[in-house]
Amino acid sequence: KRHLISAADLSRDDAVLILDTAEEMGRVADRPIKKLPTLRGRTVVNLFFEDSTRTRISFEAAAKRLSADVINFSAKGSSVSKGESLKDTALTLEAMGADAVVIRHHDSGAPHRLATSGWIGGSVVNAGDGTHEHPTQALLDAFTLRRRLGDGPGTDLAGRRVTIVGDILHSRVARSNVHLLSTLGAEVTLVAPPTLVPVRTEQWPCEVSYDLDAQLAKSDAVMMLRVQRERMNAAYFPTEREYARRYGLNGQRMARMPEHSVVMHPGPMNRGMEITAEVADSPRCTAVEQVTNGVSIRMAVLYLLLSGAEPAVTDTSENPA
Ligand code: CP
Repeated sequence: KRHLISAADLSRDDAVLILDTAEEMGRVADRPIKKLPTLRGRTVVNLFFEDSTRTRISFEAAAKRLSADVINFSAKGSSVSKGESLKDTALTLEAMGADAVVIRHHDSGAPHRLATSGWIGGSVVNAGDGTHEHPTQALLDAFTLRRRLGDGPGTDLAGRRVTIVGDILHSRVARSNVHLLSTLGAEVTLVAPPTLVPVRTEQWPCEVSYDLDAQLAKSDAVMMLRVQRERMNAAYFPTEREYARRYGLNGQRMARMPEHSVVMHPGPMNRGMEITAEVADSPRCTAVEQVTNGVSIRMAVLYLLLSGAEPAVTDTSENPA
């Protein structure tokens, strides 16, 4: 495959290959020099039209650990703020020889447009587009689950029960996880207030419930989502206290989960709303581990997309003309 746009495009074997490659990549972090020469001479552009902490930094760390050159582009402070289009931005990057463009954009479909437009020749990786998808987040979540639940390399998540809780309506993380976790054999249940459930979930490979308490005792993992207030108007939303009471994960609720089960959160968290500090800081919460695993997953994705491809600009440094 040349691009990674949607978790729905991944077969079970594709996904297991990425998870297994990420296990190998994770070992690089244990080396005295945390680098592989694999992508020397390649250029990875991080093209971020929306804010990010985890995804942008971990793609940068991943590319650097593979010895690629990294260009970080943020729409803020660029000519995008003067009205420059996605097309002209992409043509500018292409002129500089990008082997891969990692794009986060507020419009659902922007990475697909970039991958199919012919504006750039390199690989496109979706780092989160609107409310559509965030495939590398789902991959790092699956990786974290496989490790924490004791399933080793080569295995999938068959029969594991994952409950995803919160603002499903605006969540690209939920969409990518529903696709990927079900492809890997997990049983996924979405829990949300009725106003935060998308209309066509009956076509998704998952169950929907409005009752968090009914799901806790049968979950191997409970994934809490941030309430994305910036994407909603007040009419959608219960009060913060009401939301926390019905859909927030606190210590009492966590105590009803099976002993082996984990609490996940993609970050950023609204502490005190969807998750209490007690839960967020407990050893059962994998939020920080998910960030570490994100570097391994993004190394695996860049490696698998780029290591066999022709470079955008041939490295002539060892054979000067
Ligand atoms: N989980 C996630 O995408 O976090 P950032 O928005 O900080 O990248």
